[in-house]
Amino acid sequence: MLIITTHMDMTYKLAMMVRFNMIDIHSHILPALDDGAKNVEESIALITQAINDGITHIVTTPHIHLGRYDNTIDNIYTQFYLLQQYVASKNLDVKLAMAAEVRVDVAIIDLIENKRIPYLGKYGKNNCVLLEFPHSHMPPGYDNFITWLGEKNITVIVAHPERNRDIQQDISYLNKLKKLGCLLQVTASSITGDFGQRAFNLCEIILKYKLADFVASDAHNVKRRPAVLSKAYQFICNHYGEAYATALLYTNPRCLTDALFQKYN
Ligand SMILES: [Fe+2]
Repeated sequence: MLIITTHMDMTYKLAMMVRFNMIDIHSHILPALDDGAKNVEESIALITQAINDGITHIVTTPHIHLGRYDNTIDNIYTQFYLLQQYVASKNLDVKLAMAAEVRVDVAIIDLIENKRIPYLGKYGKNNCVLLEFPHSHMPPGYDNFITWLGEKNITVIVAHPERNRDIQQDISYLNKLKKLGCLLQVTASSITGDFGQRAFNLCEIILKYKLADFVASDAHNVKRRPAVLSKAYQFICNHYGEAYATALLYTNPRCLTDALFQKYN
C-alpha cells in the first residue's frame, strides 16, 4: 500500500514529535536541597507531571546560592543519584541529568577555579553555567564577571532574564548580555502570563526579536510552579512559529545537553 504524506501531515508529525520529546534544562525536582521539591514524593509528582506533559529529559538544577542554599557538587550528586535510582525502580520513562542554578556571587570564583561547579552542558567547546542574577537588580560589575568567565571558556546561560526588574525597566540589558556572549533561558510560565504582566511583556520582546535560546520550566512544585512546557510550546508555535518553538524546547536544549545526559545515563 502506498501512503502519500502531504506537507501538512509532515508538519503536524514534526510538531507532535517535538511536543512529546521536550527537554527541560532548569528544574528544582531534587528533594530537600532548596525551595523546590520538599521530599521524594514531591520529586516523583513533578517528574510524573513532566512525563505527562511530553517531557522526556530533565536536568535537575538545584540552587547553589551561597549563604541561603549552600549546596555543593557533592551533596547535589548524592541526591541526584538516589533519585535516579528511585525513578528507575518505579519504571518512570524519563532521563535525568545533573547541573545547578548558580547565584551570582564573588565567592563563585573559587568554586570555578577549583572545578566545583556542575555545568549545564556545552556550547561549542565552552562549559555552560546556568547563572541567576538577583530578581531585584543587575549587580554592578556583572559584565566584568561574565567577561572573566568567558576567558575561562565558560558561557553564561542567564536564568529567567524576563523576571529581573532592571531588565524589565531597561531592555538594553538584553543586548548587553547578548554582546557579552550570554545565552538566554526564559521561563515557560512567564511566556504564558503566569509570572505576571511585566514578565509576560518582556517575553514578548525577547521572543519577537528571537533573543531567547532556551525555554525551561524552572519547576518547583506541581501547583504553582509546575513541570509543564507544552503550554509555552503551543504559545510560541501560535505566535512566533513552529521552527522557533522547536529550537527553544528541543533542538537547542538537545545540543546543549547531549553529552550531559550521556554522562549521567
Ligand atoms: Fe530556578
